[in-house]
Formats: sequence, structure tokens, C-alpha cells
Amino acid sequence: MNKDLIKNKIEELRKEIEFHNKLYYDESKNIISDYEYDLKMNELISLEKKYPEFSSKTSPSLKVGGKITKEFNSFKHDEQMLSLGNTYSNEDLNDFDKRIKKLLKKESIEYVCELKYDGVALSIKYENNIFKRALTRGDGKYGDDISNNVQTIKTLPLKLKNNQESELEVRGEAFISKSNFELLNKEKKENNEQLFSNPRNTASGSLKLQDSSEVSKRRINCYIYSLKSNSGLFKTHEECLIYLRKIGFNVPNTFKKCNNIEEVKEYVKDWELKRHDLDVETDGIVIKVNNIDDQNRLGNTSKSPRWAIAYKYKAESKVTKINNIIFQVGRTGAVTPVALLDPVLISGSVVKRASLHNHNEIKRLDIRLNDYVNIEKGGEIIPKITSVIKEKRANSYNKFEFTKICPSCGSNLEIENNQAVSYCKNDLRCKPQISGRIEHFISKNAMNIDKLGPETIKGFIDKEIIKTPADLYKIQYNDIINLEFKLDEKDKIRSLKEKSCNNILSSISRSKSKPFSNLLFGLGIRYVGKTTAEKLTSHFKNIDNIINASYEEIVEVDEIGEKIAESLTSFFSIENNITLINNLKAAGLNFQENKIDKKSNKLNDLVFVVSGTFSSFSREELEEKIKLNGGKVSKSLSSKTNFVIFGDNMGPKKRIKAVELNIKMISENDFISMI
Ligand code: IVH
Repeated sequence: MNKDLIKNKIEELRKEIEFHNKLYYDESKNIISDYEYDLKMNELISLEKKYPEFSSKTSPSLKVGGKITKEFNSFKHDEQMLSLGNTYSNEDLNDFDKRIKKLLKKESIEYVCELKYDGVALSIKYENNIFKRALTRGDGKYGDDISNNVQTIKTLPLKLKNNQESELEVRGEAFISKSNFELLNKEKKENNEQLFSNPRNTASGSLKLQDSSEVSKRRINCYIYSLKSNSGLFKTHEECLIYLRKIGFNVPNTFKKCNNIEEVKEYVKDWELKRHDLDVETDGIVIKVNNIDDQNRLGNTSKSPRWAIAYKYKAESKVTKINNIIFQVGRTGAVTPVALLDPVLISGSVVKRASLHNHNEIKRLDIRLNDYVNIEKGGEIIPKITSVIKEKRANSYNKFEFTKICPSCGSNLEIENNQAVSYCKNDLRCKPQISGRIEHFISKNAMNIDKLGPETIKGFIDKEIIKTPADLYKIQYNDIINLEFKLDEKDKIRSLKEKSCNNILSSISRSKSKPFSNLLFGLGIRYVGKTTAEKLTSHFKNIDNIINASYEEIVEVDEIGEKIAESLTSFFSIENNITLINNLKAAGLNFQENKIDKKSNKLNDLVFVVSGTFSSFSREELEEKIKLNGGKVSKSLSSKTNFVIFGDNMGPKKRIKAVELNIKMISENDFISMI
């Protein structure tokens, strides 16, 4: 292709991707599938890599990240990043209004009210309309340069349009939306990883990750609420907000100019309940003097501007009663106390239980059975017991004792983590630990044995068919056909029929082709989540290299810290874990870095039709792998088709046609062996 054509193609892809980004963020609309979007993005990235002369500091490809920041350099803010004074009542607002009028010697003041977004403050600079640098608030005077990560925020422009200011600094709030937070935690749950605690902490932790492609996956958003301009062009804050939106920033349209403090109070009241319907966490309102000259005259105290104040809503709090405290054992053996409550409605949902986390929390609350407690669901999505109402406590309530024995197997518990967490160490025989480990092993991002549910696993464990994940691969049809087990506490009985048995066995068999990183993740080693597993497998290539690696060799791997290294060396020093790995190896599982994602010419000119549903890959993934290895994908069968890859529920008409045309039918596993 000639260079002009390539340049045009790159520009065309950039425009198209920007168009889809904008549509998605402005109108939550997708007019192409994620797959088609990814194809366009991948094409752009590979063209930019191949032709660096056409690279651009404003390409939307920067939004998928890929840059690593080893150390976040610190820079001085041009103007200190202050915080805001807080108010909690209409009286406080009246006092603020009086103070402003007195200082400015004015009778009436215009304000702008905005929502107070609960995220992470950012300062972002542009030079000649191009993104230059993004800093955290830091200590207010100096912030960390997190440019690589901030560049991945899809709603933040890398290039400004129609802007006349040669240098510009904007400030705003980066956040993770509530719906996106739930999605991220759903993924975490599927991976059996520790959940993120709340959207704000997730946003701030994400912006400090070293690998910006990981940041991009967190789908952070950003609202801009202030413009620092030296041009004197703007007379009011309202004009600044309108201008910011015009030049490409994401300024929510919830702000309002108020002619006096009474209108401010109305705005505050109006949003108290309405804010819960927004997809962004808000903990209050920010009230700003509208006139910029007035703002300058009022100036700042050492901590906060005199021209602005925050009105903070109280987190919704309810009183309820502790009916019982039970203990739950997790897959790692950690024992968690959970309070069972009189059901109570908070911020739109009924809460029946709340985790009491560990010994420290029980000590902090000094909680006792039958206590009345205050329970809150504020910024935190997860309900939290904030305090005990001691006045309502009868003298007869005894101090609550943390169990000393495992609620499941009765072994003595050991206390670790600075006396905070009790562990059951009977990992080989304690049933919730055994089932927890197996449930983790079969979860979607590990071996994805989706035809086995938690009840079936518990049934298999009760009947002593399985004790470890490796036993799954020894199960025979005759071991499980007509097997009966309890489905729930109400003694409902289930019996396994032929179809379920076959589904379970083929789902187990299919899992053997899962990549090494899924398998390593599935072992459930503490602190080894999916991403860490991928980093380890791509560095060490096979399990023996990981087992034999010293602590020092492990910490040398990019982004692998001491905690992970300690956990790995301790895991592999336990004989039972090595036995488990040997048994899994004997079952034919894949303990080698998988090379199938690399390009090859192995399928050159072969035509494939993919039909049915698959457990290891989506149909799109399979089609992508065919193309990556030089093959062609066709939607319909013809005499030119070389192979049909068949999955579950392949259409009967296709099957008949394939037989008629004498086309070779292969399974997902056969295909993987081919490449
Ligand atoms: S104006 C002096 N406007 O609240 C700071 N701040 O407590 C002037 N925040 O760190 C900031 N939403 O990150 C402003 N609409 C809004 C805001 C907002 C959230 C955050 C901001 C700051 C904190 C101040």
C-alpha cells in the first residue's frame, strides 16, 4: 500500500473510533458490536506500530493504554489544589451567604451549584490544544504525574477543538460509575477474587496502576468542573463550564445558576434523593460564587477557597437489630463473622446481613447479640454497621466471643494477620474449604467447567467422589449416574440423569484445553489473581520454572511484589500442592505457556465454518484464531469448506449438509491441536 493510502486509512480509523467513543459516552449507544470495535482498534494499533511516522499524541489508540509507568514523578501544581469547607444544614448555607455578602460588600450574589462527584481530583494541562500532563492532587502543592493512565479515560479529549487558549489547565473528578463498578465486581466474583470495596477507592487505586492497559479496562470516566485561564475572557464560572463543554470536555448538565441562596437551598433539596438515580456516586453539592472577579477578590484560606463550599448529604442510616452472628469459612480457611439482621430498607434495597470482617471490627464495635445497631449504606455499596446503640442494650448481654473452633470441621482456629483474622488450617478435610477451592478451580476465568454448580460439587464432596480439583478428571459416568444429593437446606433431593452426567463429563473434558494462565489462577494461590497469573505464565513459561523459582527471581518479574512472591514460595513448599499439580499434569492439563495466540501460517488457505456454542472460546474468538493462523472463515457450507468446527447445539441442517458434502467435522479440541 502506498504511504498516502496508509495515512488516510489511519485517519479514517481514528475518526471512526472517536465517533463510536463519543456516541457511547454521550448517548450510551453502541451501533457496532464490541468485537467490530476491537477489530478497528486493533487494526489502528497495528498500523501505528508498523508506520510510526504517522503516530499521534492524540490518537484514540492511546485510550487502550499499553504504557508502563515504573515511578510516578512528582510535579508542582501551578496553583495549589485546595479542599472545600463543609456545610450540613440550611443555617450553614445562610452563614456562608452572609459571609460572602459582607466580604464583597454586595446585596445579592449569584451562585453556581454543581453535584459533588465522589472520585479522585485531577489537574490536566493542555498546550496548543494537545494533552500535556495529568497530575493527582497529591498533598495539594505537589501531585503525581499519572498522564499515561489518565490518557486512557475515554471521555477526556486528547485534542481540544475550537479552543483559543494556547495554554490551559482544567480540573475535574475521575470516577468509576456505579454500573461499571458492579460489572468490575461481577468479574472479580467470577474470578473468586477479593471484591473492590467502593467506586472511589477503585478509581484512585486504578489510576495508580503501572500498566495503563489495565487502567483502560477499568473504564474510568471523568467530569471537568473548573477551568484555569489567564486570558480574562471569562466573566463567570457558568461561562467557563459552557466553554469547557464546547471545546470537548465532559461537563455534566446537572449544574445550575442560582440567583440567590434560597435557590441554592432548593437545588440542594431537589438533588437529595434524585442523586441516587445517577450512575455516579455523589456525596453532596458544591456551591460556587459565579462571578470570577468576585472569586478573585474573596481568595483562599490556607485550606480552601472562600468563594466555594460543599454541602454534604448525610449517608442514609437505619437502626436494626442483630439477631445472630454466624461464622463463615472461605476457601483460604479465613473465618468471617457475619451479622444476621432484622431486614431493613436502606437506599433502595433490603439488607439482611452485614459482614463484621474480623476480630478488629468486633473489638471496634464491641458488638453483642441482640444489640441494636446503626447501619449505613453511603458511598459504600456494601452495608456497614457503623456503631452499636449502647443505651438500648440490656445488662444481661454477654460480651461476644469470636469462635475458637472452625464452625464447619471443628478444628482449632489459628489467629494471623496481626491478630485480626482467624484461620482454619484443616484445609484438606474442612468441607467449605474443599468446595471453595473446587468452585474457584471451575470458575469462568479458571477452567470454566460451567456444567457443574455449587450444589453438585457439594454433593460430590459429600459422597467422597472428589476431594481435590484433580479428582474431577477421574470421574466416570458410572460414578455419578443416578447420584442423589441434597439440593438445599429444605432437604430437596436431586438425582443426576443421563443428560446432566454427559454434560458434566464433557464440560470437564473440554476444560483440559484451557490456557496455562487459567490453570495457574485456578489453583487458588493467595494473591494470584487472573492478571498476576498471566504475568507469571508469560514470564516463566511452564509450571516447573515457577515451582523452582526463588523468592528473588519472582520479585524480579514486572509488577510482582513481595506479598505474591511469599505466597507462591509458601504454596509450592507444601507437599500436597505439588501432589495436586502432579495429578493435574497426569490428567493431561496444560502447564505450558500457550502459544496459540501467536500468529502462524498453519491454516493457510483452509476454509472453516464454525457452528454451535463452545465452552473454551466464544465463536468470535475461534474465528479470530482461525484468521490469526492464516485460515479463512465462511458463514455457510459449500464444496470449498475444508472443516466444520462443531460445538454444542450445532444446527441439524448444517450437520446434514456437512455429511452430504463430505466435510471433515472437528471439535474445539481438535482445532486447538491443529494450531
Ligand atoms: S471545585 C477547592 N467542584 O471535592 C477545590 N470540586 O473537597 C474546588 N469535587 O478535591 C473544587 N465534585 O475533587 C469542585 N463539582 C465539583 C466537585 C469537586 C467533586 C471534589 C474535588 C475536591 C474535593 C473538595
